[in-house]
Amino acid sequence: MSGILEKTELTFQQLGASSEAEVDRLFAEIEEFLESEQIGDRETFRVLWASDKKGVLTKIRNNWLRAAPPSTRRWIGPRLEKLTHSVAFKLKTYVERQVEGEGSGERVDLSLPGVIRSVGSHHLIRQVFQEIEGIFFSIGFSVVEGPEIETPYYNFEALNIPEFHPVRDDMDTFYLDLPKDAKTPLLLRTHTSPMQIRTMEKQKPPVRVIVPGKVYRRDNPDATHSFAFHQIEGLAVDTDITFCDFTGTIEYFVKQFFGPSVKTRFRPSYFPFTEPSVEFDVSCPFCGGTGTSAGGGTCSKCKGAAWIELFGAGMVDPAVYGFVNYDAKKVSGFAFGIGIDRLAMLKYGIDDIQVFFQNDVRFLRQFP
Ligand code: PHE
Repeated sequence: MSGILEKTELTFQQLGASSEAEVDRLFAEIEEFLESEQIGDRETFRVLWASDKKGVLTKIRNNWLRAAPPSTRRWIGPRLEKLTHSVAFKLKTYVERQVEGEGSGERVDLSLPGVIRSVGSHHLIRQVFQEIEGIFFSIGFSVVEGPEIETPYYNFEALNIPEFHPVRDDMDTFYLDLPKDAKTPLLLRTHTSPMQIRTMEKQKPPVRVIVPGKVYRRDNPDATHSFAFHQIEGLAVDTDITFCDFTGTIEYFVKQFFGPSVKTRFRPSYFPFTEPSVEFDVSCPFCGGTGTSAGGGTCSKCKGAAWIELFGAGMVDPAVYGFVNYDAKKVSGFAFGIGIDRLAMLKYGIDDIQVFFQNDVRFLRQFP
């Protein structure tokens, strides 16, 4: 019977086979041998038929297929493929027989669907990141990311916030003890704005980037504060960017995110790295900017104010260009810093920021 195995050591030429009928006969012989094989030890079977180096399949591929002239090869290819499937099937049924024969005598029906483990879904914060990224991609921004451990230079100084500037008090900062011998301590970035500097250091204008990421402040946790939260920074710098481009971009974003019927407005504000600085508001998307709920009472979302404060932004302060070797006389631009957690809470009606970090599946499952 194993005569056929010896034939796999030889080429077709050596076997004197030259017609399709002869090829067919050889394959029939080998299939018959495969069928008659009693699988004892699965590993022995696998080594005989399917081992990479000396398995029957490999021998056939090398001695029959590869050594044959092209005219004969097209008879061999499909038959070898069929044989490969037959071997794989035998190996598979071997596993099934093993399981069926196991201990309790209970039969396992392997044709039943398996246990389905859900792959989960993106966290709501990640979903909101992606939604916002999509909006900015549509108008030519690209994404950059940066380190969460920063130097005071990038987090403060290069953003026009010198040491002892009172605005540092607004950002209770986590300083790291490491490295021990460092001249200046490292810190957990308090905002994504350091990436404005890192991006401009690396790249000449035009710049059009957004920076999604985690930021940290030494805030005590409550319904609206967490020591870690998320921002998307935006920065656009070019030779001809005006305040109109700035407000137009923000308005486009807000309408895309909250719907076309909302209005935006801005109020003067202060950031050391933007001038002028503004705070953007959106007309309350929940009461249609009326301040009253459908039932006639005060809108619980905007507390009757009709407007909701969204985020800080402004035209890049010329002093910042000095830190990155941009010519402040030639370029202009705008920057913004969107708080993602806040936006997600607003849009999805969540009243406690802590749920984003507790990873309670009952919460997470609500946002598949
Ligand atoms: N970095 C500021 C903050 O976290 C927000 C901001 C970014 C303001 C960019 C203006 C321009 O509060």
